[in-house]
This record gives sequence, structure tokens and C-alpha cells, in this order.
Amino acid sequence: MGDDVRIDPWSSSQSTDYQRIIDQFGLQQFEHGSIEQPTHLHRRGIVFAHRDFQNIGNAQRNSLPHGVLTGLMPSGQMHLGHSMVVEQVRWFQQQGADVSIAVADLESQATRGIPLSKGYEVAIEEYIRNYAALGLDPDKTQVYFQSKRAVVQRLGFQLGKRTNLSEFESIYGFGGETNLAHVQAPMVQVGDILHPQLEEYGGLRPIVVPVGVDQDPHLRLTRGLASKSNWFNVKQVNRGVLIGLSLQDDNADVFGMQANGRIDKQKVSDVFAMVDQKLTELGFSDIESIPKQGTIQVFSATTRDLHSIRMVLLSIERRLGGMGLLAPSSTYHHFAVGLTGDKMSSSSPKSTIFLNDPIEVIQKKIMKAYSGGQPTIEEHRRLGGNPETDVAYQYLMYFFEQDDSHLEEIHTSYSSGQLLAGELKQLCADKATEWMKDLKEKRDETTHLVEQFIRHD
Ligand code: TRP
Repeated sequence: MGDDVRIDPWSSSQSTDYQRIIDQFGLQQFEHGSIEQPTHLHRRGIVFAHRDFQNIGNAQRNSLPHGVLTGLMPSGQMHLGHSMVVEQVRWFQQQGADVSIAVADLESQATRGIPLSKGYEVAIEEYIRNYAALGLDPDKTQVYFQSKRAVVQRLGFQLGKRTNLSEFESIYGFGGETNLAHVQAPMVQVGDILHPQLEEYGGLRPIVVPVGVDQDPHLRLTRGLASKSNWFNVKQVNRGVLIGLSLQDDNADVFGMQANGRIDKQKVSDVFAMVDQKLTELGFSDIESIPKQGTIQVFSATTRDLHSIRMVLLSIERRLGGMGLLAPSSTYHHFAVGLTGDKMSSSSPKSTIFLNDPIEVIQKKIMKAYSGGQPTIEEHRRLGGNPETDVAYQYLMYFFEQDDSHLEEIHTSYSSGQLLAGELKQLCADKATEWMKDLKEKRDETTHLVEQFIRHD
């Protein structure tokens, strides 16, 4: 399979072959038709894929507890591309999610050489100030630092025993020369993603992680580790759903496995009785328990019941002393193109609009951006421009133009040759100016809230 895509979260170049990524890694297509008050990122297909989003949609519709967690690298300036995640977090928050934001100061120290004290400063000045300005609610948002939240590191460490170097080789392409910081950083990120489910951080509930697709390897790792730690396996079979006990070091006693190899039948039947009762409470009556095989089959359960069955089993696991971790959900957005037509990246200022750039700089950057227009006006009128490769159009679509019908008009008149490339850039620069002025104003108005975002550390 020589042409497989490998996603490297630390590389500055990423595949944008999104369909192939979906197919190869088994992502699900994001359907925005079924969600409430979709943002422009949803409506325009910029948020394009997910894993297990249905758990979150379900929690939103039924006002059940759920959380959103994401993270930021405090290593450079915050740019427009980063604002997409904040926009999504804001939307999740409005739909009822609690919000946790990890400042990946350990990761950026280990992988980019940023001292923790510098990471703190960058996180506040570049990121948190803009997060506040972009409309996150300080009362419902916890920003924390990886270096200061011991439980995050502990959880990563504990789950380390459920993976090994071969798995890291296959997920990340690591080999003998790999620096161990690159092994530890993902484990801390696992801790980030799973810790909101711990009792002291809100307890068992679905957690969604909105990220760029470059972060999917971490989600695959985390989801795998959560499942491997579970004391009950749940899978759909021909007839209903099959639950199996997953025997592990830390549950051998609870599941009646005695040191002498004998089985304590009473313990096994206690566990089965608990499961039985909870499934009955969920409304299932056709349950077959086979304690000897360690299985329970629920014949009438369908795909739609998987989540509630999982939740019940995880809470039983917790009562019995296990961690009871639900695999996180995730959503993925497309990357915005850089000004030069390549990737937008903090390390190349020419390709990137930073949120703290002065307005005149931004206007200049946009007027010089890569264009999808034709070389001459005559040709442009005849052949039309290409909005798909035109940076000004793309930025209107990703960031600055909220009105879908206006965007559509621009699309039509640009592709038909009516609107010239320079005119389109001017339109974009004007809209960007408005957007940036507004952001700057909000930044000034919300400066006093920054403290509140980080009060939990
Ligand atoms: N690794 C992420 C990045 O490079 C930052 C991060 C740390 C993160 N922990 C996280 C992202 C948890 C999402 C969820 O940007």
C-alpha cells in the first residue's frame, strides 16, 4: 500500500486529499443538515468529517451533559486558521457544551523548545486574549496548562501500559531514532482528551474534540486506549448487541478470577446481575446472559442503542472501580490556504494573517495574495476566475463573509469573469478590515476576562 497517506501532526506539510483521508482512516462525512444553527464552517463544508459525532448531536438535542475539549500550541502567533477551532468551540458552547482548553505547554517545550514561562506568556497574549475576543464565555470555559494539571500527565502515564512502540510506529511512523519527547507528547494529549470525564472534571459524558485533520492520529490513539481500558466490550452482531467482559489485571478480582486460577462464581454473577438490571432499566427484556462465556447478548438492540448501552456499562465499570472511559468524538475541518497558495503556518509570516497584525499589514497581504484570476483582463472576462484557488475568495468563504447568498453572488460573478481579481481582493480586504477592527475592539473590551479563563489553574 505504497500510496497510503501518513498524517504527521508535527510536519508543516499536510495532505489535503480529504476524501482519501476519510476513506483510509474511516472518518465519517459530516452532515450539517441535522444540526442546530450551523455556523458558516458547517454550512460550507469546511467542517467536513467526524468520528462518533452522533453522541454529541444526541446530547445537544436532549440537553444531556457533554463537553468540548481542544488544545493550542503556545509556540507562535495565533493566525486566522487557528480561529476556526474557536468558532466551533463557541458554537458547541452555545449548544450547551462545557468547554476545556489545553495549553500544550509541555508539548511545545518538548517538541519546539519553548520554555514553560514563554509558553505561558504566548498562550495569554496571543491565544487567550483572542479566544475571549472571539466570544467564548469565560464562565463556561476552563483554560488550563498541561504542565500544571497533574492528573492529565498521570492519566497519560497510566494508559501508557495499553500501548507500545509498535503501535506508535504504525500510527506516527516512529522508529529507533525518534526522540522520546514525541512519544510522551501524544500520551499527555491522551490525558488532555480523556480527563474531562474524570469525576472531578464533570464525570462521564461524551466529549468532542474539534481539530484540524493533522491531529487525527492522536484521536485514533486516544480512542484505542479508551476502548482497550474498558472492562466491557460492546459490539454489534447479527442479532443485536453482544457485551463481553474484558478481563484485565485491574479487574481480575472484581470479575472473580482468583489467584489460584479458580473462579469465584458469586462475584461473576453479581456483576452479571448488575448489568442485567441496568439493561432492563434501559427497556430491554430479551437479554441472554452466559456467565460462563462472560457474555451478555441483547437481541433487540440496534445501532441506535449502542451509545446508551456503552454509557450504562461505563458507569457500572466506574462503580466497580474502573476508569470507565468513553472514546472521544471528534470533528475535522479543512485547512485554510495560505496567502501564497500554500499552507498557512505560523512559521511563514508571508503566507499568514496573524490576528495581531496591524490592519494596514493585513490589507497589503490580501492585495498581494495568490489569485485565481486570468493573466489579462481580456482573458478574465472571457474565461472567468477560479474561486477554488483564489485566496481572496477562500478567505471570504472561510472567515470574513457570513452571508451565504452574498458569497454565492461573488462566486458567480467571479467565475463568469464579471468580477475582476483586483476587485475581489478589494472586497476581501474591506471585509477583513471590518472583521479585524471588530476583533481588536472586542479584544480591548474583554481584556479583563482573561484572568477568568485561567482561574482553574
Ligand atoms: N497537539 C496539538 C497541536 O499541535 C495541541 C493539543 C494538545 C491538543 N492537547 C490537545 C489539541 C488536545 C486537541 C486536543 O496543536
